[in-house]
Amino acid sequence: MQNEPLPPLSLPTMALQPALAALAAIGQEHLLSFYSELPAAQQQALLAQVASIDLAGLPKLIDGYVKNKPAAAVSGSIDPVDAYALSGKRSASGAAWDRAAARQSGIALIGAGKVAAFTVAGGQGSRLGYDGPKGCYPAGAVTRKPLFAMLADWILAAQERFGKGNTIPWLIMTSPGNHRQTTEFFAANQHFGLRPQDVMFFPQGQLPSMEMGTGKILLAGPSEIALNPDGHGGSIKALYASGTTKMLADRGIEQICYVQVDNPLVRVIDPLFLGLHAGARDSSADMSSKFVAKTDPAEKVGLLCRVDGKTAVVEYSDAPVEMQARRNPDGSLVFSAGSIAIHVIARKFIERLNDGSGVSMPYHRAEKKVAFYDIARRTAVTPDKNNAIKLETFVFDALPLAASTAASGSITMETDRVDEFAPIKNADGNDSPATCSAIQTLRAARWLEAAGCAIPRKADGSPDCVLELSPRIAFDGDEVRSLVGTTLPRAIERGAVINLGSK
Ligand code: UTP
Repeated sequence: MQNEPLPPLSLPTMALQPALAALAAIGQEHLLSFYSELPAAQQQALLAQVASIDLAGLPKLIDGYVKNKPAAAVSGSIDPVDAYALSGKRSASGAAWDRAAARQSGIALIGAGKVAAFTVAGGQGSRLGYDGPKGCYPAGAVTRKPLFAMLADWILAAQERFGKGNTIPWLIMTSPGNHRQTTEFFAANQHFGLRPQDVMFFPQGQLPSMEMGTGKILLAGPSEIALNPDGHGGSIKALYASGTTKMLADRGIEQICYVQVDNPLVRVIDPLFLGLHAGARDSSADMSSKFVAKTDPAEKVGLLCRVDGKTAVVEYSDAPVEMQARRNPDGSLVFSAGSIAIHVIARKFIERLNDGSGVSMPYHRAEKKVAFYDIARRTAVTPDKNNAIKLETFVFDALPLAASTAASGSITMETDRVDEFAPIKNADGNDSPATCSAIQTLRAARWLEAAGCAIPRKADGSPDCVLELSPRIAFDGDEVRSLVGTTLPRAIERGAVINLGSK
């Protein structure tokens, strides 16, 4: 079925008097301090920004998160999740699980056209400091392909192998700040080989940045409110409010494969994960998660746990140190399921969360330096210390809203760190472009070596080459095995820099 792209972004607006009255009622009328001095177009844009804020809900947010700090969220019983472990056993009971059968049922779902890919790409990427949407960042170890192109390759690879003629739609959540640049980048790059009608963009919501202590919303300029995207958790609302879930329902799509834009290794459409999540007919889980095993208790990732019997992510900073350090008799960590922000979400779950029954996601408070316009001094200020509170919602907070029985609520599946996790967060150091490139090489080298290809090694054991292997050539280690000696080489030369079939 052909799908029309969603209409371009348009914001609702508000008339001056109702805007003034609503702002005055909550002590935020300073936002219109310069209104009368602005040209008409800027007046309109400013009123549209006011209209985009949930003014009625604001006082509660300011009280709960800006003037006061919410108490650490974790309370109640915390247990490890019963995961589908890489060993082929369930982590709690040790019972074996059937990998091949789960993979086959995932393949059947893709072949029946019931699966969409979803990438959240609305973040500001402030730690990386790249000028432009993060998805445009050149990340291929050899090709320097942008992150968006690398994710598109995974979708094309799944479509080519399992689609049976069906295409896999790709939903991309932008933010009002990067929507236009993102859509233009896709158009300029021929949608990275996907059909334009299969790529659907929608913007997430925004929240105002507020002055620390007072809760006054900051102005970014005389005609502009300081707004920030409402976090990746905003996707739960935006998927529905944008009409995307309706479009998915019309197209017969049941499962949404959620990934973040900054991890080019992620197998965006993973038949095995899909099969485990969707289970037997009519008994799909609501929202499921992949994780990597933590070996160092100090690694700063959220932990997938059972909190009061429900799957949840406990943030690193909220989990007691003693709990994080607890070990099993074999030395492994008891709480080892490090969340890596890879989920499958049932479309019906998103619909349920938006059915008006009052389910809401908690907010997370971050103290930040936010540039602002000083109203009294009529000047722009770049603060040198934290001056503002930004609020965000996190997608993993939807997990405890899933049904409580393990099968219909949420499954968790372990994946290998080198196979699927190399996010680009920082400009240097951990989780940087350099570590991402190194892991791309490491993964290709590992798969090739296991298939009999000779890999040159440095004294420290790391590969002495740079490799980029496209998922369109090989989706996993098993496929590499069947290609070594034909499409893929039997040996790699020392110091080689090779693009292994990345188009
Ligand atoms: P991060 O939490 O790493 O944030 O986002 P970021 O914006 O990319 O980077 P920093 O923190 O400013 O350095 C993880 C994923 O969630 C998306 C990002 O685009 C990324 O794919 N995200 C984040 C959104 O889509 N919207 C948001 O409001 C926040």
